[in-house]
Amino acid sequence: MSTPALFTDPAAWQARCLAARREGLRLALVPTMGSLHAGHASLLREARRRADAGGRRGLAVASIFVNPTQFGPGEDLARYPRDLEGDLATCGQAGIDLVLAPGDPAQVFPPDHQSWVTVERVSQGLCGASRPGHFRGVATVVAKLLNLTRPDVAIFGEKDWQQLAVLRAMVRDLAFGVEVVGMPIVREADGLALSSRNAYLSAEERGRALALSRALFEARDAVAGGAREAAPLLARARARLEAAGARVDYVEVVDPLALTPVARAEPGAVLLLAALVGRTRLIDNLVLP
Ligand code: PAJ
Repeated sequence: MSTPALFTDPAAWQARCLAARREGLRLALVPTMGSLHAGHASLLREARRRADAGGRRGLAVASIFVNPTQFGPGEDLARYPRDLEGDLATCGQAGIDLVLAPGDPAQVFPPDHQSWVTVERVSQGLCGASRPGHFRGVATVVAKLLNLTRPDVAIFGEKDWQQLAVLRAMVRDLAFGVEVVGMPIVREADGLALSSRNAYLSAEERGRALALSRALFEARDAVAGGAREAAPLLARARARLEAAGARVDYVEVVDPLALTPVARAEPGAVLLLAALVGRTRLIDNLVLP
């Protein structure tokens, strides 16, 4: 597996992707903020697979950009983990051909930037409620990455379920003409969902963070056993998080696409939770059986 070609200049990237499209190559894009782990790697391998799906070797590409516009004041932008060298190796192992990693945020958001993409309803609850402006920043940077790359397929993780719903709505509403693919959550052997932010956890917090996945698995088993009323499921999940000393931001059962709360967990409904373990905000979710 060879090292991918690194682009730091978005204009050079755009020209390279345009040339590939003119040659008739299929392009598959994975947008990331770097500090790549096995969850990202599963998306990168899927990009390789889908780029080659036309029977000809296409172009599998990834972006690594810690997008300042999706962080609120007081959030972890300054200390967000960065590891470009390791990330390039991970991309190479997954078969990625090109990586865009702008060296300076001003290359993506110059001082005169004044255009924003707002996806309305689906951005409002859940993480949108506690992180005002977050999904505007996500939608805008992904819109820009899609325009710079013009991929056939863009691949995202279900770990960020609301983000995926926001981006699906944006792509549909604004006719981006790209296929959006959602990939299942990759977890550690003990259940913890992989996240770049897990690096913030102390060993003791790492143990307490297991309460998130355990709460989800417990709810899944209860639902499989016929307990479909949302209220007791939510109370139980909340109690489990609180018992682990996690500060609950939200626990909700929602419709998978509209993200509106439901009173009964019908098959396909999603249980979503967000909680602070120490200073680290963690999210996780599970599609109910
Ligand atoms: P980041 O947090 O780096 O995640 C990049 C992609 O990896 C997202 O689509 C996310 O859902 C997926 N991912 C993260 N952890 C995962 C796991 N454990 N299993 C499966 N997929 C996982 O999400 C972002 O970056 C940014 O908001 C971005 C879309 C790049 C816009 O800036």
